[in-house]
Amino acid sequence: MTINKEKDIKILVVVGSGRKGSYNQIIANYLEERYQEECIFREADLKSLPVYLEDIENDDIASVKKLREDVKWADGVVILTPEHNFTMSVLIKNFIDWCSRVELVLANKPVMITGATMGYFGTVMAQSHVRQAMLSPGVKAVVVPGTEVYLPTIQNRVAEGKLLDENAETLNKAFVNFVEYIGSENRYCFNC
Ligand SMILES: Cc1cc2nc3c(=O)[nH]c(=O)nc-3n(C[C@H](O)[C@H](O)[C@H](O)COP(=O)(O)O)c2cc1C
Repeated sequence: MTINKEKDIKILVVVGSGRKGSYNQIIANYLEERYQEECIFREADLKSLPVYLEDIENDDIASVKKLREDVKWADGVVILTPEHNFTMSVLIKNFIDWCSRVELVLANKPVMITGATMGYFGTVMAQSHVRQAMLSPGVKAVVVPGTEVYLPTIQNRVAEGKLLDENAETLNKAFVNFVEYIGSENRYCFNC
């Protein structure tokens, strides 16, 4: 599976786990390695962000500034969320809140949502909550249809810290579709 025309598309990867050995990080690493010729990747630094509080949302905070710059830089954002207690991880929720309200940096931004879990349901609930938040008036991102990928029992699809190619077919299809959407002329844009 290849991406033909869309050279140098800028992708911000948002990994919702700070855990050592994180499976979601392994998925991120897979995409970054597999598509290094076609895309330029950056990873958002979610661990440096303070916990979002309305009282500090307008403050001059270096990590928040950097995050907003990274989102603005990107042609598309790939979100990898673990599922924590039937919803997204706190890192992802914090990311979304810092990207909302003050500067709607995700507005009209193409977003792909995926996630890995050791459980059987592949982050289906976490992803549906991320999707819902992405569409809120304070965020207004464009979640690209058909790019969601659920990665259950991920411990069985990984060997020596790497996602195995044979377990990445759906992920690859979705990512290629996502990049093709970004490169297409008929992208959705509200109020553009
Ligand atoms: C606080 C917490 C809550 C969790 N809740 C769920 C859950 O609701 N559904 C699920 O499938 N897995 C759940 N898990 C398991 C995680 O999906 C699993 O640890 C996964 O590996 C996390 O992703 P990571 O490897 O990228 O950190 C939970 C883990 C933690 C730490």
